[in-house]
This record gives sequence, structure tokens and C-alpha cells, in this order.
Amino acid sequence: MAYAAYVFDAYGTLFDVHAAVRKHSEKLGPDANEFSMVWRQKQLEYSWVRALMHRYKDFWELTEQALDTAYALYPSADKALRDDLLNAYWTLDCYPEVPEVLTRLKSTGAKLAILSNGSPAMLEAAIKGAGLTDVFDEVFSVDDLKTYKTDERVYELVTTHFRIYPEAVSFQSSNRWDIAGATAFGFRTVWMNRAGLPDEYPDLAPAAVLNDLTGLQALG
Ligand code: LAC
Repeated sequence: MAYAAYVFDAYGTLFDVHAAVRKHSEKLGPDANEFSMVWRQKQLEYSWVRALMHRYKDFWELTEQALDTAYALYPSADKALRDDLLNAYWTLDCYPEVPEVLTRLKSTGAKLAILSNGSPAMLEAAIKGAGLTDVFDEVFSVDDLKTYKTDERVYELVTTHFRIYPEAVSFQSSNRWDIAGATAFGFRTVWMNRAGLPDEYPDLAPAAVLNDLTGLQALG
């Protein structure tokens, strides 16, 4: 089946969320990797909890709060790096295969879009930093709805905008919980299991699993 739109999660899927810490890992010391994991996990936890409470704060604010929690849990991490880490988050590296895969998919005539928890300003900066400005037809942010994934209204932003059915959308995410939400909504889902993690949400399985975006076009 030809998909009308290929829609991508941003953080962890196109942009490497651990690139900010990696840039400063020597100064952060031996706990740098764990520090980065906690930063990311707390950022996501805050999004889920706030969505359930209907107490939205944008993803940038949650990113800052999550970093402060990571610092509290790892007191040895150098606090003087806080601004550098936050600045680095605005221009995270994209994964190496991303530009070429997106350019090839675009040449098929399908619409390309991002659907992300990120604030519009964060997404704009990341896209620009990675040189992907001309690739996307649309960038959808949860900020329009003031809630977070996996609220089904987030996935609905895509179908409403393009006036297509969910099954005409191929949705790619490295976040297994996001794949569960997108599958529940009715998208064809492709889990980018970049980290080789165990499967979860057995009743909400992806249509396919890839190690990275290479191979997406071959899936159709
Ligand atoms: C996003 C988060 C889930 O980009 O990484 O939506």
C-alpha cells in the first residue's frame, strides 16, 4: 500500500536526545550516560503526568525541570554545565541516515511531517540545525492542543490537517509507548527500535520493527 503521509516522532527518532550530554560528557564524568537517561525519562514522565492532570506546561519547561531533577539525583554532575546542556538541546544532531531517507521518501510524492511533544520553537530550531527545513510539509506540535502523546487528539492533528484516514498514515517512532498510542489511533506504525529494547504493549503491536530509518521505503 502507498501511504499518503509519512509522519515522524522527533525526539529519539529523528534527533538524538543524548547528543546534548554527549557533547559535554567528559566534563560530566562517569555518570554522563545515566544522567542523560534520567533527564530524558523525567522529561517524558512529566509529559504523561501533566496530560492526565490537564496541567499543561510546554515541553521546553519540562525539559528544564527534568534536567534539574537529573542534577538533584546526580549531585556530582557539574552544575556549571546547565546552560550549555540546555543550549545543546536546541540543536541536537539528527541520526546519520535521516536526511537521505527523508529525501528519498519525499521523492515518492508522499507528504512528510513531524508529530511531536516538542514546542514549536524547539522543533523549528532542531529542524533548522539539522538542515531539514525544506523536507517537511508540516510540523505538528502538541502545543496546539495543550496536552501530550498518547492523547488520541494528538494523532488526530495529522488526519484532520491532511483530510485522510488513519490507515493512510505511516507513523515512525523510536518510543515504544508512542507506537502504542499511534497504533491505537489506527496509523500503520513502524517502531524504530534504535536501542534494541524489549517489546512492550503486546496488544498494540507495531506493523514493523526496524533498527533505524533505513529500510522504511522498502516496507512501502
Ligand atoms: C516527541 C517525543 C516523544 O518528539 O520524543 O514527541
